[in-house]
Amino acid sequence: MCGIIGYVGPRDAESVVIDGLRRMEYRGYDSAGIAVVTDGQLALRKKSGKLSNLVAELEERPLPSSHTGVGHTRWATHGAPTDDNAHPHTGADGRVALVHNGIIENFAALRAELEADGVVFASETDSEVAAQLLGREVARGASLVEGMRVICNRLEGAFTLVAVDAQAPDRLVAARRNSPLVVGVGENETFVASDVAAFIEFTREAVEMGQDQIVEVTPSGYEVTDFDGNPGESKPFHVDWDLSAAEKGGYDWFMRKEIYEQPRAVADTLLGRLSDDGELVLDEIRISADDLRRVNKIIIVACGTAHYAGLVAKYAIEHWTRVACEVEIASEFRYRDPIITSESLVVTISQSGETADTLMAIRHARVQGARVIAICNTNGATIPRESDAVIYTHAGPEIGVASTKGFLTQVAACYLLGLYLAQVRGTKFGDEIAAVLDELNGMPAKIQQVLDNTQQVLDLAARLKDRTSMLFLGRHVGYPVALEGALKLKEISYLHAEGFPAGELKHGPIALVDDGIPVFVIVPPQGRDQLHDKVVSNIQEVRARGAKTVVLVEEGDHEVEPYSDEIIRLPKASTLLQPLLATVPLQLFACELATLLGHDVDQPRNLAKSVTVE
Ligand code: F6R
Repeated sequence: MCGIIGYVGPRDAESVVIDGLRRMEYRGYDSAGIAVVTDGQLALRKKSGKLSNLVAELEERPLPSSHTGVGHTRWATHGAPTDDNAHPHTGADGRVALVHNGIIENFAALRAELEADGVVFASETDSEVAAQLLGREVARGASLVEGMRVICNRLEGAFTLVAVDAQAPDRLVAARRNSPLVVGVGENETFVASDVAAFIEFTREAVEMGQDQIVEVTPSGYEVTDFDGNPGESKPFHVDWDLSAAEKGGYDWFMRKEIYEQPRAVADTLLGRLSDDGELVLDEIRISADDLRRVNKIIIVACGTAHYAGLVAKYAIEHWTRVACEVEIASEFRYRDPIITSESLVVTISQSGETADTLMAIRHARVQGARVIAICNTNGATIPRESDAVIYTHAGPEIGVASTKGFLTQVAACYLLGLYLAQVRGTKFGDEIAAVLDELNGMPAKIQQVLDNTQQVLDLAARLKDRTSMLFLGRHVGYPVALEGALKLKEISYLHAEGFPAGELKHGPIALVDDGIPVFVIVPPQGRDQLHDKVVSNIQEVRARGAKTVVLVEEGDHEVEPYSDEIIRLPKASTLLQPLLATVPLQLFACELATLLGHDVDQPRNLAKSVTVE
């Protein structure tokens, strides 16, 4: 996700800001920019692409020397990664500059309001709305902090904002709702940043900002208030991580950090999808409702973990839309001469948006006349560019090679697509769609609940680390979860792991069960799912043959207890949404076990994050 740094103090602001941005490069970004204040004027430079492009621009067009500055690395969400869309953005009169991390949900309404007021926008971003609003408040006579309070009360969504005012050269004002912000307190100098990595070289004294707070910083300190100007509480802390740990937010691996980011990532994926009249709206659907109504077959194509997200999606899409949905491994798709017509809808899922097998599959589908919807995490990547429509998963950059938050956000985006198709095709009533959306919106808190209770999973990994083979079983949407649990373990621990549909066990795989083999089983909700009792029987079958059963089951289900060696409890959820919860302990189990085996969890052997060859 975007990286933000702001600085006030005696040092040269440009070099502090650029160094800070460099230390946040690991967060992933596709453009960068800086603004400094000198002699009552703002000076700005912004460039698409890598930070080196911005540095080259600064060499060509140097900034005046300054002691107050803000910088930003942008991970594009609204608007392509261009120079114009890069931050900072300015107000209409060029007096304030602002950088933003997050998504402003009500930006379209605010932009319309500002345009009606004569404001001409210089970018396609949601962020510029905040800059223009702030500029208008300051031009009307508000101080920077007063203006920030006004705009924070108008913005909806997730945001960290940092702003400078050309006419107040010794201060920065920052605000935080749902996106990260820390203050770094040095001697006669103060920093604000998305994470401590940005300023750790200069100070290890930091302050964690609370939700819905504003901070005004000067070289001599900081003052925290809420959005209405009342004094706010903040938590000072001492940073004892080294730089590389700081980049990972104190976690040992990016993978573990990304597992813990999932409540936020899923919430961001779901954010801003409802119109004022309660209709579901998606990012860039350039396919008419009539064309979507004509679709007679849906084909999901993807690779690896994204393919498993597609397998989950199939159950939801068919259930909600009553349209037949096939799920294809992208590398197999075009070579078997699939039956595609202009009434086929191809849905492609890709975290990176660059996977060659998936790209070739959608090119083939388009040549045959199909429409293509991409579910992708990378704005402006090739796959969304070559598709007719895109739903972005706003997971932020995924750096660990093994996909975690990528998977959960892909599943969430698939649910949105399924509900959208049901809405357009009229296969579900509005109140039925609203009820599922309501449950979906509650899932981030439940994922957090799973993450708050992980000691058992860590202990289990320690106990099972010397096993050489493990099995994963599930039925219905639990089956792709089993496949994903096995893949995570294979990828980073290099153990033999297989996922099976639990009902298929007796047709062959049960021969693998021998004394002591760990078998993970995902149990559907009790009483609300017809398969619950069948899965309980499957657990008994493997246990009778000596397996050690690790059972993932919802709270309150006691029926499995006699047959379980280990019970991992999950919060209650409906059958279709359970994968958002059941996958999480399996990810963490794999991460912990690989750590205990001494493997490089973030860069497992033989694997690449983005597979751009067929
Ligand atoms: C597994 C994993 C891979 C990817 C696959 C597709 O942890 O990361 O299986 O899911 O290579 O990648 P994307 O989603 O970028 O197309």
